[in-house]
Order: sequence, then C-alpha cells, then structure tokens
Amino acid sequence: MGRVVGEPPDRAATRAGYDAIAAPYTATFRDELARAPLDRALLAAFAELVGPDADVVDAGSGPGGVTAHLRDLGLRVRGIDLSPGMVALARREHPDLVFDVGDLADLGVLGISDLGGIVAWYSLIHVPPAQLPGVLAGFHRALRPGGHLLLGFQVGDDVVHHDEAFGHRVDLDFRRLRPDAVAALLVEAGFAVTARLVREPVPDSRAPALPQAAILARRPAAGDHQAETPA
Ligand SMILES: C[S@@+](CC[C@H](N)C(=O)[O-])C[C@H]1O[C@@H](n2cnc3c(N)ncnc32)[C@H](O)[C@@H]1O
Repeated sequence: MGRVVGEPPDRAATRAGYDAIAAPYTATFRDELARAPLDRALLAAFAELVGPDADVVDAGSGPGGVTAHLRDLGLRVRGIDLSPGMVALARREHPDLVFDVGDLADLGVLGISDLGGIVAWYSLIHVPPAQLPGVLAGFHRALRPGGHLLLGFQVGDDVVHHDEAFGHRVDLDFRRLRPDAVAALLVEAGFAVTARLVREPVPDSRAPALPQAAILARRPAAGDHQAETPA
C-alpha cells in the first residue's frame, strides 16, 4: 500500500516502515509494559476514570498489547493503526479484539465520535509537529465531554531517523517531545491537563534509554468547576 490520495506525505513512509517491521517489532517489545509499573499505573488510572460503559480507541495500536491490557482493565476498547501489517498482526495476536486500519488524524472521517477515552501510546511520535495541533483538535472532537486522553512518548527535542530497522530498509522518524510543550498544545486544543508523569528508563527495556512521559488530559464537560473571574 503506497500513498493514499489526500493524506499527509509522511504517512506512506510510516505505514511502509511498520508494515516491514511488524513481526520483529512485536517480538522485541512484547514485554515492555510488564517492565514498566509506572506506565501501568497511568493506564490503570485512565481505565478507572473512563469506566466500562464508554467506547475507547487505542490510536496507533501497533501489535495491540496495550489495547489488550486496557481490555483486561475492563474497558470497551478497539485499536486503529496506519499500518495494515500491524493491524493483521494485532488481529492474529488478539482475535477477540477489533483492530482497523486508519489514521489517528482522521477519527472524525472514520465516523468515530462520542468516545469516553483515547490512548495514543507512542504513536504521536510519528506525527510531524506542524500536524500535532490538528490531531489533538480531532481527539477533542472525537471525545464526549468529560472524556479522557492518555498520551505516551519519549522526552527530548530531537528527531531520530532510521533508514534501517530489524534488517529492513525503512524511512521512519521518531520524534521526542517535551511534556510542557505537549501540555500547552493540549490546552490550546481545549483540554484540561489532569496529570503528567516523567519517569526514567526501566531496567532491561528495549526502548531507547531516555526519560519517558505520559500525559493524562480531559475534555471538559459542562458544569465543570471554573475558576471564578474577579469582577
Ligand atoms: C512505536 S509503535 C507503538 C505501538 C503501540 N501503541 C504500543 O505502544 O505498543 C507506533 C505505532 O503507531 C502507528 N502510527 C504511526 N502514525 C500513525 C497514524 N498517523 N495513525 C495511526 N497509527 C499510526 C504505527 O503504525 C505503529 O504501529
């Protein structure tokens, strides 16, 4: 699958890259969540806040391990991913869960709305910075008022380009992000930031040895407490 008409130019390279490495990526990172108790704590808090009665999308679900973890926490969750190879693999790994091919920037186009929660776990790292405000605005529209958003990403300022991964030729950019900058973008998109976690790399992780961040945010609901404006 090459370039899809009308999509941003970076998407074809990201899709092809993850199609090429879906199997070794999955094998390498299969146990990552089991090594990261603080990540599991944030996912558990997200699950408790959202509850079992609302739809949740794992946006950029990859092999579906996080999707399955959210299901095990009681959520009604499905995954979407840009890479058909990743979606096929996630369906094989988790046949009881629903995974669809789709761009996390297109939730509205995909007819996805009224969500209780969205998780974008290490998927926004592939979105060019100029597109982040639009993607976050789309997440805001797809959530019902009071819905929750959880983001995971590596902390930093650089873009790491890979033209080889697991023995395959790829063209993948991994963007580090600054929690303060992401929080500011969330506020601009209309979110209230609930919590930020920055943790050190965990022992034996296969991920880059960098601080890792998670940000939890909420689409405000009517009737939320507003700070009073002095007369
Ligand atoms: C680093 S992997 C993380 C996968 C999964 N969230 C996890 O933590 O195991 C990034 C995933 O995001 C997907 N992705 C990247 N850009 C995307 C986009 N615009 N829309 C949907 N998925 C995207 C990739 O195909 C890949 O599967």
